[in-house]
Amino acid sequence: MLSNRHIIEMSDLTPDDIMLILDTAESFKEVNERRIKKLPTLRGRTVVNLFLEPSTRTRTSFELAAKRLSADGINFSASTSATVKGESLVDTAETLSAMACDLVIIRHKYAGAPRMLADHMDAHIINGGDGMHQHPTQALLDLFTMREKLGRLEGLTVGIVGDISHSRVAGSLIPALRMVGARPIVVAPPTLLPARPDVLGAEVATSLDDVLPELDVAYMLRIQMERAEGMPFPSVREYANLFGMNSARLAKMPPHAIVMHPGPMNRGVEISSHVADSPRSVVLDQVNAGVAVRMAAMYLLLGGDASGTAA
Ligand code: CP
Repeated sequence: MLSNRHIIEMSDLTPDDIMLILDTAESFKEVNERRIKKLPTLRGRTVVNLFLEPSTRTRTSFELAAKRLSADGINFSASTSATVKGESLVDTAETLSAMACDLVIIRHKYAGAPRMLADHMDAHIINGGDGMHQHPTQALLDLFTMREKLGRLEGLTVGIVGDISHSRVAGSLIPALRMVGARPIVVAPPTLLPARPDVLGAEVATSLDDVLPELDVAYMLRIQMERAEGMPFPSVREYANLFGMNSARLAKMPPHAIVMHPGPMNRGVEISSHVADSPRSVVLDQVNAGVAVRMAAMYLLLGGDASGTAA
């Protein structure tokens, strides 16, 4: 069991909760490698995917996670829900509540939408990404991948590079790293940092080249042109030159260091195709971990214990 009913932001979890989720996900990863990838664990439970913003990885992996645990899954998108007819989020929450759903995963363009849902429903809520706020299951799958690839979390130095000010991924990953004893360094031009970078809880650097030799992980963020106001750097080419991960920069990192990206990637901007497709990139391992980690989060929120992770 987890210590909170919801996973909306990293502060809903304790360090022990994080380790429980990662350890449980290891069992589910083994299930996902079997020919028959299904457990009866959540039979009879109802899981709603309420994705009111586009998603490939998060939506699909939550859908797969629900199916592999034998839950009844219902999928809403912005175009198929009554929100297109102007229904408020509170009315949507009360409607889903009346149907006795057990767990709702919500992605929404507004920060705070998952908390609002939690305030108006009895169901457990998982935040699948809210505006520029948080994306906690992304941070959990990132921790899972780091631990799997590097053998530990405590003491790792992780450079989170790029669009810090618009990134909900950074919003969850920075506190998650601190909770497990890792050292986050945010690396960005001042125009892609918040006005008060000191409140991030991470060291701040404005030169990627300077920090590369220290890094165990270079975590490249997507440049979010859809959230940026105006052009936060002179040109995409200049951004790639100064902050993009390429072969020359990869060579400046320690030989064991890995490159991560939450996806979707802007190839040629924050990461070159050569690096993205290289053995040092663990981008597809992150996607793979996403299913197991989301199975673990669902399972533990709905009251599972260790006996349900194998069959
Ligand atoms: N990383 C991530 O959240 O990807 P999607 O937008 O495809 O879900």
